[in-house]
Amino acid sequence: MSKILVTGGFGYVGSRLVPHLLSLGHDVRVLDLMLYTGAGLEALQADPKWPEWEKRFALVRGDLRDAEKVRAALTGRDTVIHLAAISNDPTGDIDEVLTRQVNFDAVGMLLALAKEAGVKRLINASSSSVFGARTESEINEQLEPEPLTFYSKYKALSEWLVLSAAGPEFCAVNVRPATICGYSPRQRFDLTVNKLTADALRKK
Ligand SMILES: NC(=O)c1ccc[n+]([C@@H]2O[C@H](COP(=O)([O-])OP(=O)(O)OC[C@H]3O[C@@H](n4cnc5c(N)ncnc54)[C@H](O)[C@@H]3O)[C@@H](O)[C@H]2O)c1
Repeated sequence: MSKILVTGGFGYVGSRLVPHLLSLGHDVRVLDLMLYTGAGLEALQADPKWPEWEKRFALVRGDLRDAEKVRAALTGRDTVIHLAAISNDPTGDIDEVLTRQVNFDAVGMLLALAKEAGVKRLINASSSSVFGARTESEINEQLEPEPLTFYSKYKALSEWLVLSAAGPEFCAVNVRPATICGYSPRQRFDLTVNKLTADALRKK
């Protein structure tokens, strides 16, 4: 059993990941500002397995940019799954400073505090959008990122923070998911397949 901190654990991905981790027997703590309501938390508490999960779950409601909240959330954790972010291109373009603070600066602080707290393993959710719009027929991990937006630029830069923090005592990796689709208690309709599905239903 791992003691896991999931940042952004009640967003679209986290609201599906957290019950999955609990069902695997892990101890799960979530750090989240709950920007998109408490739908993920409510779904978790409505799950028939909640009475069993409750003793292995905790929520720290707070901002990833707040060192004291992050320290509190990291205490006693061996693993971090970092999901919290300004999480799409249009939102990231509204305020570059906010996007940089959350998607880059705060990742540096999280890494430093995680090492200080004795965390052994960190998985950082970057994004396939770091590749930008490409003309090559084959896009693979060997290509240099060419981010086009503030969201993808700060995701790409945060990958370097993660790689430079990694070492023998601290296994830190970046993942670059493509656009995800499907249901989550915190539903996103800005994602391509979800939006097409919603438009097909509502607009015929
Ligand atoms: N959903 C996708 O298709 C996709 C694809 C590639 C990468 N990603 C990445 O995966 C991660 C999760 O994506 P998602 O779809 O669940 O996003 P989401 O926007 O649904 O969830 C992000 C969560 O982070 C929280 N958050 C935002 N700023 C915060 C802050 N300053 N402090 C604390 N919490 C904060 C929000 O309240 C929210 O619950 C993100 O980093 C995103 O960039 C997602």
